[in-house]
Amino acid sequence: MTRIAIIGGTGYAGGHIARAAADRGFEVISYSRRLPDAPQPGIEYRQADARDREAARAIVADADVAVVSVAPRGDMEGRVEGTVAQLADLAPEAGARLGVIGGAGSLLVAEGGPKVMDTDGFPPQILPEVREAERILERLRADDSALDWFYVSPAGGFGAFAPGEARGTYRTGGDVLLVDEAGESFISGADFGLAVVDEIERPAHRRRRFTVAY
Ligand SMILES: NC(=O)c1ccc[n+]([C@@H]2O[C@H](COP(=O)([O-])OP(=O)(O)OC[C@H]3O[C@@H](n4cnc5c(N)ncnc54)[C@H](OP(=O)(O)O)[C@@H]3O)[C@@H](O)[C@H]2O)c1
Repeated sequence: MTRIAIIGGTGYAGGHIARAAADRGFEVISYSRRLPDAPQPGIEYRQADARDREAARAIVADADVAVVSVAPRGDMEGRVEGTVAQLADLAPEAGARLGVIGGAGSLLVAEGGPKVMDTDGFPPQILPEVREAERILERLRADDSALDWFYVSPAGGFGAFAPGEARGTYRTGGDVLLVDEAGESFISGADFGLAVVDEIERPAHRRRRFTVAY
């Protein structure tokens, strides 16, 4: 059975991916520095700081796919880039695929640009998080090892502030923000989890970024 490690499996995005993966019948191991107050059935929770090299080595050694869902904010601002780089260094030898959950800010608003983060009204307080997430993508794209990676940018309106409902549907795109007929870019937590688990079960974006929205 496929073993999935979710680094940040107690967080918003990681929690939805963990739930969807367990519901799909995968073996799911969540890693975080603090154990959850309300553990979910079908998910094994392990305490680890993914910045630690030996912890990172153990995570990829015990997984077919490791998904990093750690936000570069708060005490992790400036620290996720190195954490992902270390996992990317260790994953090929362990034979693990590496998935990274990034942000919508580096997507283009339309073919040819500009990027979402460079548009008027983009909240300046989240620029450090968005820029770090973009640097992670650039590093992955520059990787010339055998690393099997994917990087997911959720819809612009995705986040813990708007969990939404499970519709059981989603669309995927490449580097351009997806919007619906009303001009909204949104995906619920549950349907984002579904899309990531579909990518794990049937890889369609090897060494590529994709975006998920309705
Ligand atoms: N619309 C958008 O573009 C959008 C919106 C939201 C999120 N995102 C992206 O989605 C990803 C996840 O964000 P989120 O909002 O789901 O974050 P979150 O809810 O804050 O969860 C972060 C998770 O990472 C864990 N974590 C933090 N540092 C860690 C470390 N050193 N070792 C192991 N685990 C660690 C946390 O647990 P502990 O603190 O206990 O370790 C927690 O489980 C980020 O890349 C974020 O940028 C994008």
